[in-house]
Amino acid sequence: TKIAILASGSGSNAEKIMQYFRNSQLAEVACVISNRKKAGVLERAERAGIESRVFPKEAFETAEPILDYLKEQAIDLVILAGFLLKVPAEIISEFPDKILNIHPALLPKYGGKGMYGHFVHDAVLKNKDKETGITIHLVNENYDEGNVLFQASCEINPEMSAEEIAAKVQVLEHQHFPKVIESYISEKIS
Ligand code: GRF
Repeated sequence: TKIAILASGSGSNAEKIMQYFRNSQLAEVACVISNRKKAGVLERAERAGIESRVFPKEAFETAEPILDYLKEQAIDLVILAGFLLKVPAEIISEFPDKILNIHPALLPKYGGKGMYGHFVHDAVLKNKDKETGITIHLVNENYDEGNVLFQASCEINPEMSAEEIAAKVQVLEHQHFPKVIESYISEKIS
């Protein structure tokens, strides 16, 4: 199974996934795609010896350049790991139930457009929630609404900062995302 990772940011999740599948017989990370040429994920891909490509945001609107590249790489599964643009419908229809996303909250709470990074943790704090967590889900046409594959939670309290919550949530992301991808491939792809 050939995996493409789409990421817009630092890429710590992408790095965990690249490391996890480095010697795997089941799957390989074939490429990393970003919409930001300064994204930290590009250095992480470089260090991992994995090909990366940057596309301008227009390419994600027309979809064609991305689709061409995904086909050229013979990609079977697309992983969004901190990808902040909307995935065009053409890509979703080309990869039905083959695009996974990770969201740093317990969907359906705190999802939707614009709910990413500290915005999510600020909202959780404002509501004085006692727990938050991660959701790994299939991607469909609407932000953060695809079938949920996995959730994990952690305790928080209103005295914590958004940064502290983000750090606790990232531990869950790094701990679970690669394994959830592997199980999904074993059950649904290969
Ligand atoms: C993570 O919080 C993830 O839940 C969200 O974007 C962030 C990506 O972080 N989708 P990183 O770039 O993998 O460090």
